[in-house]
Parts: sequence; structure tokens; C-alpha cells
Amino acid sequence: MNISVLGTGYVGLVTGVCLSEIGHDVTCIDIDQDKINKMSVGISPIFEPGLNELMLTNINKGRLHFTADHHQGLADKDIIYIAVETPQKEDGSADLRFIVRAAKDIVCHIKKDVIVVIKSTVPVGTNKFIKELILDNLTKDIKVDIISNPEFLREGSAINDTFYGDRIVIGSENESAASILEEVYKPFRVPVFKTDIYSAEMIKYASNAFLAAKISFINEMAHICDKVGANIDDVAKGMGQDKRIGPDFLSAGIGYGGSCFPKDTQALVKMAEDIQYKPIITKAAIEVNECQQTLLVEKAKKYFGNLLGKRLALLGLTYKPNTDDVRGSPAIPISKQLLKESAEIIAYDPAGIGKARTILPSRIQYAGSLDEALLNADLAFLLTEWNEVTGSLLRKACQLMKEPIIFDGRNCFSLDEVRKLNIEYHSIGRPPVLRVKSHHLGQDC
Ligand code: UDX
Repeated sequence: MNISVLGTGYVGLVTGVCLSEIGHDVTCIDIDQDKINKMSVGISPIFEPGLNELMLTNINKGRLHFTADHHQGLADKDIIYIAVETPQKEDGSADLRFIVRAAKDIVCHIKKDVIVVIKSTVPVGTNKFIKELILDNLTKDIKVDIISNPEFLREGSAINDTFYGDRIVIGSENESAASILEEVYKPFRVPVFKTDIYSAEMIKYASNAFLAAKISFINEMAHICDKVGANIDDVAKGMGQDKRIGPDFLSAGIGYGGSCFPKDTQALVKMAEDIQYKPIITKAAIEVNECQQTLLVEKAKKYFGNLLGKRLALLGLTYKPNTDDVRGSPAIPISKQLLKESAEIIAYDPAGIGKARTILPSRIQYAGSLDEALLNADLAFLLTEWNEVTGSLLRKACQLMKEPIIFDGRNCFSLDEVRKLNIEYHSIGRPPVLRVKSHHLGQDC
């Protein structure tokens, strides 16, 4: 198939590259010429394990192209994907400016019948609105079908999720267009679920809201565990063995972040409120998540009395490991609170420092290594479970900090492990491990 993808952000680029990998001829279009130049030689603008290699392979095989020229990119395609961003507006709703512009570009440049596939996350009704916009403005005799095909990729494992995802959702009014898209995806061997357009749009919001609620639920249980002396990790394990609950997405911590859950839950709330419905559970999930992000600072304040002048190693700035994305990261509110408490922050992240500098408060200092961040620190906050950090943190905390005092926002270590090393350790929904100062316990560091 001759395919083009409008928008080379996370979703667009990964989709385009993976479609070329299964043999389609794919042109990725973006307005940023500098970005296009880099991608044309296999340099990905996003950090995603395996993506650069896959780009290079398919560029060399001659089936992956990049252009800023919309006519060249759109004129003769069988399928055009719209994968532009839908940022959050101030009132929480999704900003459809870029989608509308993409639709207008399509109208201007197409020369033959085409299937337009919307991958961007859009409020229910948007696919139909875009179809009408295109048809109302078309002056040529061309047939245009619209398909809603939401994405479920996770950053950091986006390529794996494309090839081995749980499902591909195809929302369409036209069975033959849906079958063509199903055929496009056939080599992925991922189950296809076909439905109507509104339901497909809704599946994306409902899935993300459900996952966000699952995380907030386990975080609420963690609060209760904290107070009653239970261990949330064991509670989650015990719950997860019930097949109806399942073991995934039950990791308690400092809450969810990223470019999807925070934005999509807010957009769902707005969408519901616009039809005079109060989405109680989604709103509660958002509220619990916001509270969750203040937890570590509260625990540290309780332990030290105050954080004035304390040298704090802030470890992990991205919203999760294996990405350089800092959007919606818990590190943002946490660093703001720490600065309010007059702590001195030395931050380290294996991949996110570049982006963090543009988002986090300017008073933060950045370390070039984990060692530098930990050196002479009074306490460490672990915010992201990067292997590079967790693999050596306990040993390095013992060697480099004034005293090994760790506040772990991701429950990365077993209580026995830290107890053996005599580290002061506070985590989420588990009893604290107190450092014994007067006499040695095990391999005291
Ligand atoms: C998410 C969805 O998983 C994906 O299907 C959708 O298309 C886009 O949004 P992503 O944001 O990349 O993907 O990351 P994900 O791995 O889902 O994690 C989101 C956030 O939830 C992270 O901040 C993570 O740390 C947090 N999380 C996840 C928890 O706090 N606990 C968990 O048990 C799982």
C-alpha cells in the first residue's frame, strides 16, 4: 500500500516506521524541515528504544520517506494517517486545531480516492466532523472514507506494542474501507476489533481513564496501607492473582504522568460535562493522582522537620523509564514543592535532562551522573525506576551520601534488602525501614 502519515510525533513516527517495516511504502510528513532532514538520514527526534535502527533499515530499503512538501506527500496515496497532536486547552478539552489543518491539507492535495485514518486521540464525534469538513470542501470527484483507529502505544515500548499489541481498533461506517485497513495491519498478527466510529473514539478514552483509575485505586489503597501498617506490594500481588482484577497496573507510587493519561482523563471529564454528565470516577482518579504527587515531600518534611537547605538528589525526571519525555511528569510538581520548602535540588536522569531544563523550575541544578547527584546529599528522592539508577542506587547511597536516606516514589527495593544495608528508607504504602545508628545490623553501610 502507498501510505502517508501526517505528523511525526510519537504516534505518527512509530506508526509510519512500523508500517514500512511490514512492507508498505510510507511517507511521513511534517512541517518542520529541520526535523525532516534529520529523519531522512535515520535520526529520530524522539527517544524510543529500537526506533533509529528500524528507521535506517527501511530508509535503506527505499520504502520509508520523509517530506515537508504536502503535495508530494499526499497527492497519490491509498491511505493517509492523521497523527498530529491534540493538546489540552485551558478548559481541559482537546485542541483540534492541528487536526483541522491536516484535513484542509488533505482536501488541497489529494488527487484520487483515499482512506483517511485518524490516529490522534479525539473527542467522540471528531472523525465524523472531519469527514464532513473534507467532503464539504472537496471540489474534485474523489471518494474519501474516514476510519477511527486509536493508538495504544506506550512510550518506551512503542515498537513492541505495535507488533504485539493486544488489539487494533477500527471504527468505520464502511465495511470495505475497514477491511482494507485490516489487510494493511495483517502482518502484525494483532487481533482486530471492528466497530462504529463513535465507539472506536470512545474506546481510547475509556481505556485510558480505566487505567488511570486502576493506578489511582491502588494508590488510594497504599494510603490506607501506610496508616494501618500493611504492605501495598503484597496487597497488590494478592489482589492481582484474582483473574478478574489482573496483576498489571497495580504498582503504587507517586502517580501517573505522561502526555496521555493526564490529558485524556481531563478531556473525558470535559466531554462528559458538556453533555451534563458528572464523571465521578474519572474525576476522583484525577484528584487522587494530584494528591499522590505531594506524598514524598510530606513524608520527607515529617522525617526532617523541614527541608530548608537540605541537599536533595532528585533521581529520575521523566514520567517513566526508557523515554526522554518529561511532559506531565510527577517531577514537575515535586520539584516545585521542594523549592518552596527551600531544599537544594541536584537532579539526575539518564535521558530526560535536556527536556527537563525546558519544563522544570530554573533553580534546579543538574548532575552529569548518578554519583554526582548523590555526593554529599542529605536525602535522595527516587522518582523514576530507571534500571541505570536502581541497579546501583543502594550501594552508591551508602558510599556517597552524608547518610543513606532514600524516599522511594516507585517502591523499587524490597524492605529486606534495604534493612540489611541499614539504609533509612521510606516508600509508598509500605512500613518505613529505619536506620539503626548505634549498633550495626548485617552489612551496615
Ligand atoms: C499510556 C497507555 O498505556 C497507552 O495505551 C496509551 O496509548 C498512551 O498512554 P504511556 O503514557 O506511554 O502509555 O505509559 P504507561 O506505561 O501506560 O504509564 C503511564 C504512567 O502511569 C507512568 O507515569 C507510570 O509510571 C504510571 N504507572 C503505570 C503507575 O504509576 N503504576 C502502574 O501500575 C502503571
